[in-house]
Amino acid sequence: PIYWGNLLKYPGWYVTGYEEAITILQDTRFKNRTPLPQTSKKYEQLKNIQNDMMLFKNQPDHKRLRFLVSNLFTPRMVEHLRPFIQETVNDLLQQFQNKKTMDVVSDFAFPLASLVIAKILGVPQEERYQFREWAASLIQTIDFTRSRKALDTGNAITIILRDYFNELIKKRKHSPEEDLISLLIKEEQQGDRLTDEELLATCILLVIAGHETTVNLISNSILTLLKHPNQLMELKEKPLLIEGAIEECLRYESPTQMTARIATEDIEIHHTTIKKGEQIYILLGAANRDQNKFHDSHLFDITRNPNPHLAFGYGTHFCLGAPLARLETQIAIKSFLAWKDNLQLAASDLQWRKLIGFRSLNELQII
Ligand code: HEM
Repeated sequence: PIYWGNLLKYPGWYVTGYEEAITILQDTRFKNRTPLPQTSKKYEQLKNIQNDMMLFKNQPDHKRLRFLVSNLFTPRMVEHLRPFIQETVNDLLQQFQNKKTMDVVSDFAFPLASLVIAKILGVPQEERYQFREWAASLIQTIDFTRSRKALDTGNAITIILRDYFNELIKKRKHSPEEDLISLLIKEEQQGDRLTDEELLATCILLVIAGHETTVNLISNSILTLLKHPNQLMELKEKPLLIEGAIEECLRYESPTQMTARIATEDIEIHHTTIKKGEQIYILLGAANRDQNKFHDSHLFDITRNPNPHLAFGYGTHFCLGAPLARLETQIAIKSFLAWKDNLQLAASDLQWRKLIGFRSLNELQII
């Protein structure tokens, strides 16, 4: 469950066990930090922005930042988006009503996730498609397999997004609207508020964190259901199983496969001593298939209950967007399955993107 490895030249402790993963994720002596090369001057801007993101902050800074944002990013705010999400799903499916094939990734999941996050942040309607293009390139910057080329692209796009959001923030400071940026500008708790740098980093974090993962969850869910026709049939017969079905998709094909921490002192975990400064890679996807935690862990079972998977992480950094991702995916999958009869995979040889941190299809053609 914990072993020393060197996957793709990243030496460190690899954690595959469920209990070991939650022990580490709830122990604040294991810290989070940006995965960018520490020494590189070239990515200074990108690094500065990432350092201001709550994802890479530690206590007490993390608590402060998360409190200011989570006050606004509530399940109630998410529930308000239900009509917009449903309408967007209907529009996207409508466009493919008479077409023979559809790529679930680029024609459905990606535009949906993108338009929803753009709506939340208050990106004007006419700019949402451009915004989508930028967002698509960013995921590489936080994966561990990032190449120089991916980092250069990520760096350039982060700078574009920085300028874009700085402009939007300036506009919203003068004329606030109902969107999250306007609310974050106004938000003050116990005499504290976000700095301009933190506001910018939060916008970019929401674009990255809220995007690819949701695209992957929607695409992986459709793939997994189509590959398990009995489970699919059961879901069609009992639509109330949708919530459990999405939880099982999160466990079975976890969109985020890995997260990382660094030890701030020598720490003994389950008979293993992790030394100060050593890296720990927590394989969430593996923990979610741990036989010691999940009965028949390699079986896809939409009625699995309880299902305490770690797909959204665990502890203080537990995914802030989980209610949004769940709502978006439930609406998307329900509508998708009702859209046409006899949906089938167009090909059996699927291409997964070469990322370690994310379970991500290149495309998913269906007929
Ligand atoms: C954190 C997964 C969707 C915003 C996380 C973490 C995981 C995760 C595993 C914890 C990382 C760690 O501990 O190192 C997912 C998955 C999603 C999803 C699988 C979709 C299926 C979203 C969405 C948003 C979002 C839609 C927002 C729009 C965040 C933020 C954090 C986070 C802000 C950092 C929280 C913190 O540091 O306190 N997510 N996420 N995520 N996620 Fe998500």
